[in-house]
Amino acid sequence: MGVQATDKFATKAIHAGSHVDVHGSVIEPISLSTTFKQSAPAEPIGEYEYSRSQNPNRKNLEDAIAALENGKYGLAFSSGSATTAIILQSLPQNSHAISIGDVYGGTHRYFSKVANTHGVDTDFTNDLVADLPKLVKENTRLVWIESPTNPTLKVTDIELVAKTIKSLNKDILLVVDNTFLSPYLSNPLNFGADIVVHSATKYINGHSDVVLGVLATNSRDIYERLQFLQNAVGAIPSPFDAWLTHRGLKTLHLRVRQAALNATKIAEFLAQSDNVVAVNYPGLPTNPDYAIVKKQHRDALGGGMISFRVKGGAEAASKFASSTRLFTLAESLGGIESLLEVPAVMTHGGIPKEQREASGVFDDLVRLSVGIEDGDDLLEDVKAALQKASN
Ligand SMILES: Cc1ncc(COP(=O)(O)O)c(C=O)c1O
Repeated sequence: MGVQATDKFATKAIHAGSHVDVHGSVIEPISLSTTFKQSAPAEPIGEYEYSRSQNPNRKNLEDAIAALENGKYGLAFSSGSATTAIILQSLPQNSHAISIGDVYGGTHRYFSKVANTHGVDTDFTNDLVADLPKLVKENTRLVWIESPTNPTLKVTDIELVAKTIKSLNKDILLVVDNTFLSPYLSNPLNFGADIVVHSATKYINGHSDVVLGVLATNSRDIYERLQFLQNAVGAIPSPFDAWLTHRGLKTLHLRVRQAALNATKIAEFLAQSDNVVAVNYPGLPTNPDYAIVKKQHRDALGGGMISFRVKGGAEAASKFASSTRLFTLAESLGGIESLLEVPAVMTHGGIPKEQREASGVFDDLVRLSVGIEDGDDLLEDVKAALQKASN
């Protein structure tokens, strides 16, 4: 079914990439065939030849992602990490990259332990806006932003970074990892990014049952380069995972809005609690990045992720994390169910303490992925666990 550029987000989420098949199926079947019949040598009957190169379910998902990110082209990969790998693989040998300091640990690992083996050298900075002009070199080809960052939820002004790059008149790609917000809350391509990437494992699929990555771009040249690598490397999602993710994203707007409203309620409570040292939540007007949030996020919503420091140090954080009834203690985020974790000993445990604390990841920090259960029930759960942690 065709969507129009003027259609609103919810209409695109339901209809983009959704086609009625020959039987009139309203939901497209899962196409498991690895190969497709040809009428004469090198003359496929339809669009498809071999499922690594393209598959109906992956194509539907890619079209939907492009529509939701206001991009012309979408691509899907076997994970968010594979998406990152393909983008970095596309850089010329011996090029230079600049990345925001507290990117997702796996992205940091890929930059510093894998991309460097084909000569891509990366500088990390915790103040990209200020440091960018100083860090740019003759061979700089990529700037990588994650906004908000994980787990301290710092927001970067994408438009400002894009303008700075343009003013340097260099051939530099601006990539934004939009996993924490989802296309419902922000569209980095609108602010000048060349590529937007997601771990669709999180909000886009939203049901904690698929590992998958996606990207969108408006550049035909970038799309063709990355599509070539998608096929050459073969880091593709299965038809079933593509189908599930496409199903998941049809409710993205409802899930993300509800998660953000629930998170706002909890963040407001935490901000005034005597048992909390500090709260990181982009949706609070007191947040230092709130002016950027108002410009960059739909309805100035802060998303479903919160991090906060519990009074009482590592012991209190651990006690809080073990005391909730509805929030499940587990890594990952962005699902319908609420999760929590202690980054210093879980997702960020591999980073040396000094480096970790320099970006705000203290031993007492707790990260919440707020789900779409009833907001009042979630708030009561947080209140009760905080009470237990402070005793
Ligand atoms: C912001 C961000 N980007 C990328 C990834 C990697 O995605 P995946 O786990 O799908 O490989 C993650 C995973 O947690 C993430 O949080």
